[in-house]
Amino acid sequence: MYMTLKKMVMESKFNGILRTVVTQTFVLNPTHLSTKNSKCIIYTTCYGAKTSLLRPTVSKLEGPFYSTSSKIKKSLNPKSELARLFEIAKPELVNISGAIALLVVSSSITLAVPFCMGKIIDLVQSIANDAMPQSEMQPVVTGLCALFVLGAVANAGRIYLLQTSGQRITKTLRERVFESIMAQDMQFFDQSATGELINRLASDVEIVSGAVTQNLSDGLRSLAQISAGIGMMYFMSPDLANVILMVLPPVAIGAVVYGRFIRQITKDTQTSLARSTQMADERISNIRTVRSFGKESFECKMYSRKVNDVLQFALKEAKAKAVFFGMTGLAGNLIMVLVLYNGGVMMHSGQITVGDLSAFLLYSGYVAISIGGMSNFFTAINKSLGASSRLWELTDSVPVIPLQAGVFPDNTLLKEDIDFKNLCFAYPTRKQHKVFSDVNISFKSGKVTAIVGPSGCGKSTVGVLLLRFYDPDTGEIAIGGQNIKGISPAWIRNNVGIVSQNPILFSGTVGDNITYGSLSHNQATMQQLEEVSIQANAYKFISCLQDGFNTLVGERGITLSGGQQQRIAIARALLKDPKILLLDEATSALDAESEDLVRDALEKAAIGRTTIIIAHRLSTVRRADKIIVFDENGSVSENGSYNELMNHEHGVFKRMVEKQKILFS
Ligand SMILES: Nc1ncnc2c1ncn2[C@@H]1O[C@H](COP(=O)(O)OP(=O)(O)O)[C@@H](O)[C@H]1O
Ligand SMILES: [Mg+2]
Repeated sequence: MYMTLKKMVMESKFNGILRTVVTQTFVLNPTHLSTKNSKCIIYTTCYGAKTSLLRPTVSKLEGPFYSTSSKIKKSLNPKSELARLFEIAKPELVNISGAIALLVVSSSITLAVPFCMGKIIDLVQSIANDAMPQSEMQPVVTGLCALFVLGAVANAGRIYLLQTSGQRITKTLRERVFESIMAQDMQFFDQSATGELINRLASDVEIVSGAVTQNLSDGLRSLAQISAGIGMMYFMSPDLANVILMVLPPVAIGAVVYGRFIRQITKDTQTSLARSTQMADERISNIRTVRSFGKESFECKMYSRKVNDVLQFALKEAKAKAVFFGMTGLAGNLIMVLVLYNGGVMMHSGQITVGDLSAFLLYSGYVAISIGGMSNFFTAINKSLGASSRLWELTDSVPVIPLQAGVFPDNTLLKEDIDFKNLCFAYPTRKQHKVFSDVNISFKSGKVTAIVGPSGCGKSTVGVLLLRFYDPDTGEIAIGGQNIKGISPAWIRNNVGIVSQNPILFSGTVGDNITYGSLSHNQATMQQLEEVSIQANAYKFISCLQDGFNTLVGERGITLSGGQQQRIAIARALLKDPKILLLDEATSALDAESEDLVRDALEKAAIGRTTIIIAHRLSTVRRADKIIVFDENGSVSENGSYNELMNHEHGVFKRMVEKQKILFS
């Protein structure tokens, strides 16, 4: 047994199956996996393994599957990316222009300081030599103070305008990215990792909005100071200013190389950061599984490897930064030394005064500091180009099944039969595995149809296709003869109520969770809530909870039992008053008592609706009007009423029922 498992794991390592299994979150969504694919067994086995032999190595678990970007088109040249980057600041143009105007004021004042200082030094020298009376100093000092106050006010205004604009841009950008994520189709989510998407919303957005506001303003200030500083130097002494130009070309070349490097490394850092977030997110939200397998220290080690990857990129970035900033710092200081040396010579020969030299030195100091500021700006812009391209990947990706498309038919269509005609389907992420090949089934309006079959044969896929989470490869699904491809997915989803085996509740109150089923702007009256909870056999237990409908259910409804969660999910589905009801193994995870309560609730709910019951336990389908039996290849092997199928002497269904009888007796 051990050897067989080991062999299976070794094989799976090579064919990459393991990777797929892990990313598909076994705990959260068991419907993705089936015992039919040995993948499920392998993952469970690995997680339960005591020896490291059975554990997959981390490198084998990683791969393009983790990255959303693997699916979406790679984009754009840097120039257009730069244009797009600044485009997001457009709505804040007034504020940013105001900030730039204030920047001109404060920078002009800052730049006037060396000039004034030079004059003051010459004035002080004249006073010291008794060439001028001391009273000459007073207006100069007062004027200077007033100038500084004005500069401070302008600076404060600039910072306020930029900070608020930055926050608004962050908000808008987050909304846009979240909207894009929400609009994606299921195929996208099959390929993406939650933590990775959250990382984009949280971290990438902040880098980008920071760059187009705060960093932009700092950068502009530095640019202004460099150009005005050099301008003033030329104004004061062109010969001395020429000396400075010798230093600038190597700095510019270094900046281009460094900029490219930073852009790429930011992309890599953000991607590996996203992977670590993804892993933490998955493990924390499934802490019960981690704990029940006693894998806390194993997970800590795995997480540590992930953050170590982030660290490696950060170390590379640090090296590049160190070299670049060291170089620009040196360039700044070289300017000062060159000015000091050449200026000293010129002063000696009487070409400039001591005041001029002091002013010149101050200007070169400003230029030096501003080169540092420009380096920061340059770093930030390149970082944000790296981060923004990850955001555009999301906003640019066009869903195959858009939310807003197709017609809204008349509700009388819901009284018609549903037909699956010549249907072929494979999940987009697993194209080689055909779930259905030429399936023809129909669901009579107002009747209860059950689907049974072995695990992994495609029962849940029927529901998923009906909800138009995916489109069939060939063939069609029709309601009243109308292909659902032409119907708005929103209309379909509004009219199909679904209760699945593991219904997910959201953190919030019991009432909030039931109200989630409401079609009218997430609102429901107390009376409606009570009505649907009575129908769902949930009213009694809700009334016994401490705060009734206002009781908090915890993350994913964790503070309620499986049966209670299930009944809230039924109430939630009933609030929609759907004409088509899809029950996907809604009772199979429950104990006998809650199963009775839930089954009873479901039978009540089915009245007057086209109901599809997907069931594992065959006793639950006894009362269905029709039973469709799938074989393990997703083909229909039998269909008919319970009695008809039981009368088939060697029928598949009859054999299944008998087998289960032995199993449960
Ligand atoms: N999102 C998905 N992506 C790829 N394959 C999937 C996905 N969901 C289910 N499958 C695969 O499709 C097949 C049918 O699954 P499903 O309809 O959930 O089976 P069941 O009959 O147990 O409900 C299984 O082999 C399963 O592994
Ligand atoms: Mg299923």
